[in-house]
Amino acid sequence: MTSSVLITGGTGTLGRHVTPLLLDAGCKVRVLSRRGGDPSDGVEHVTGDLLAGEGIEAAVDGAETVLHLAGGPKGDDAATRNLARAVSRAGARHLVHISVIGADRMPLGWFRTQLGAEEAVTGSGVPWTMLRAAQFHDLVLGVVRKMAALPAVPAPGGLRFQPVDARDVASRLAELTLGEPAGLVDDLAGPAVYGMADLVREYLRVRGKRRAMVPVRIPGKVGRAYRAGDNLTLEGADLGGRTWEDFLAERLG
Ligand SMILES: NC(=O)c1ccc[n+]([C@@H]2O[C@H](COP(=O)([O-])OP(=O)(O)OC[C@H]3O[C@@H](n4cnc5c(N)ncnc54)[C@H](OP(=O)(O)O)[C@@H]3O)[C@@H](O)[C@H]2O)c1
Repeated sequence: MTSSVLITGGTGTLGRHVTPLLLDAGCKVRVLSRRGGDPSDGVEHVTGDLLAGEGIEAAVDGAETVLHLAGGPKGDDAATRNLARAVSRAGARHLVHISVIGADRMPLGWFRTQLGAEEAVTGSGVPWTMLRAAQFHDLVLGVVRKMAALPAVPAPGGLRFQPVDARDVASRLAELTLGEPAGLVDDLAGPAVYGMADLVREYLRVRGKRRAMVPVRIPGKVGRAYRAGDNLTLEGADLGGRTWEDFLAERLG
């Protein structure tokens, strides 16, 4: 049974859901982030920067398991290499990593850095578990809000998502963190596949708004990859229980 866990990025969208689950399971939890967190939540908060290589040794010291959730728009590969080196040196017994569906296929810079982060974990020499998840509802809501603020909403043909609720991802990650190293586990996606226009339409409906939709085509190899569904796992994924409609009703209803 894991008793001492370091969660990198435990103050983020996903981290805020996973942390209480691990505390409830009886783990001693330390959270690493750049800005720190509220110590009243029963967690030891430490500050450090994985990308700048600051504060990592102190953060991993004594952790049996490291759950790596910290991430950002840039540099997740380098940040994860810095973390993986320190985890290996500290002798932790399990490194659990969240990645994204399509990390191994999508020809886009951010996905490539996610693949680099995966390679840092698998090459670390530390026994590992990795879960690739679809886009979280929260992230999709941010995108859809911006699109719906435009006078006419671009609707890229063939662009589909399987948005998953961060709470469903958190439950699965808590289970994996408490278990033994399992390698690459089944992907976790939301319960339904939506076109971009469907996601925006449901948002507009809940907000009582109307907007014109303008079909657009994503050019080049990125467009081809999206149209081929390289960002999706249509077969063999575990599916979260909460739909986009459930999420919007709860968040905005
Ligand atoms: N969002 C999605 O749709 C999605 C889908 C699949 C996988 N993922 C992966 O899931 C993970 C968590 O996503 P999220 O949406 O919860 O992210 P988030 O809300 O942006 O939270 C990121 C967390 O990482 C910390 N952090 C960022 N850069 C750091 C650094 N250089 N050093 C130390 N801590 C750092 C942040 O705290 P500070 O800012 O205080 O440092 C925060 O606690 C990410 O790795 C992401 O790639 C996300």
